[in-house]
Amino acid sequence: MTAKRDFARLSSLTVDELKSILAEAHALKADRARGRAALHGKAVAIVMEKASTRTRISFEVGVAELGGIPVVVTTQGSQMGRGEPVRDTARVLAGYCQAIVFRTTTTARFEEMCIAKVPVINALTDDAHPVQLLADLMTVEEVFRARGELLDWSKLRCAFIGDGSSNMARSWIEAARILGFTLALATPEGFDPPAHEVIEAGNHVQLTRNPREAMTGSRIVNTDVWTSMGQEDETARRLQAFAGYTVTGELLEHAESDAVVLHCLPAHRGEEIESAVMEGPKSRIFDQAENRLHSQKALLTFLLA
Ligand code: CP
Ligand code: NVA
Repeated sequence: MTAKRDFARLSSLTVDELKSILAEAHALKADRARGRAALHGKAVAIVMEKASTRTRISFEVGVAELGGIPVVVTTQGSQMGRGEPVRDTARVLAGYCQAIVFRTTTTARFEEMCIAKVPVINALTDDAHPVQLLADLMTVEEVFRARGELLDWSKLRCAFIGDGSSNMARSWIEAARILGFTLALATPEGFDPPAHEVIEAGNHVQLTRNPREAMTGSRIVNTDVWTSMGQEDETARRLQAFAGYTVTGELLEHAESDAVVLHCLPAHRGEEIESAVMEGPKSRIFDQAENRLHSQKALLTFLLA
């Protein structure tokens, strides 16, 4: 029997595995019925300790489309909300389900779930959002495919404007390191990603305080909320700190003329992104949201089929 594989972060996969999951994601998007028996009879627990629209629904639909049985578990509706330890929940769920998708707070809590004898997929922690990155990278590939342009990751420059310490920025740093593109990360002082992650990414990450500088030469422009789930008490301080880091039409003019805009959603219009940019011709935000479904189906197929 082969050992179970968890998907804790993007680097839980080799580069070749990542690329083949992305290739399968495109194939699944082209043919929605593809792989419809891949998870035949397999139950997947989708455990949410934080709010979710896209992740929960795309996993739920994705598991069903692959012939599996999605089981959504929320904190409030389960004994987890009354303090049952994650390590107990992990072993119980593994007795019923063939995989666990887990959205939680700390990496330590996620790792506790990984004692389950079935694959555990990170559906967002405070430190990482790797399933979102699968959809983001798929969307980048899709943009290049639609233009008939060969994507050479090593020549690509992407900008991330906003909270450099967020799960999204940190997962984009990981993607830059793995695929070899350049991530120009504009973030205010006090919101840098952990130093070791920047060092590990070497020259694939360029940290700046100047959003215009990050935009220059970038063909992909990313942002995320300034106040992530669990940080609500810091909202006022963050609104102040991130002033000037809004992705506006004016800022976008500093990027390459063919640049596209990504946002994992939910968005706070008028804070990290201008409404006109979200709704504008450069936005691929809603394709990106749809790609959650296809890329996660590819991941589930890889881990379980
Ligand atoms: N982008 C994302 O993970 O959205 P949800 O919080 O709605 O799942
Ligand atoms: N950084 C955001 C991402 C939401 C999908 C958060 O953690 O709330």
